[in-house]
Amino acid sequence: MPDLVDVCPLEQLPPGARKIVTWEDLEIGVFNCDGQLLAIEDRCSHDDGPLAEGTFDQATCTIECPRHGSLFDLHTGKPKTLPAYVPVDTFPVRVADGMIKLEVD
Ligand code: FES
Repeated sequence: MPDLVDVCPLEQLPPGARKIVTWEDLEIGVFNCDGQLLAIEDRCSHDDGPLAEGTFDQATCTIECPRHGSLFDLHTGKPKTLPAYVPVDTFPVRVADGMIKLEVD
């Protein structure tokens, strides 16, 4: 059974918003991409940069790494552009009783 981590109430993460949460030794970025809730590890696979602070594009559901500019698909965690070529981890997100929750294990 995965652990469920509370992120925040749904109304605090409207479309276009993001929030970074810490779970154990991981930081995870949670995004509201035009109503879809998506989560990725906040660590770029290229050089361990803080990925979730980059430019978030709701139209394409991507995040651009602020360090060297790789563009990652928030649905899959896969990089769409170099220099990163290894996917980052993604996490299932759900809403229960109005609270956004991350599934982690
Ligand atoms: S650390 Fe993200 S592209 Fe280099």
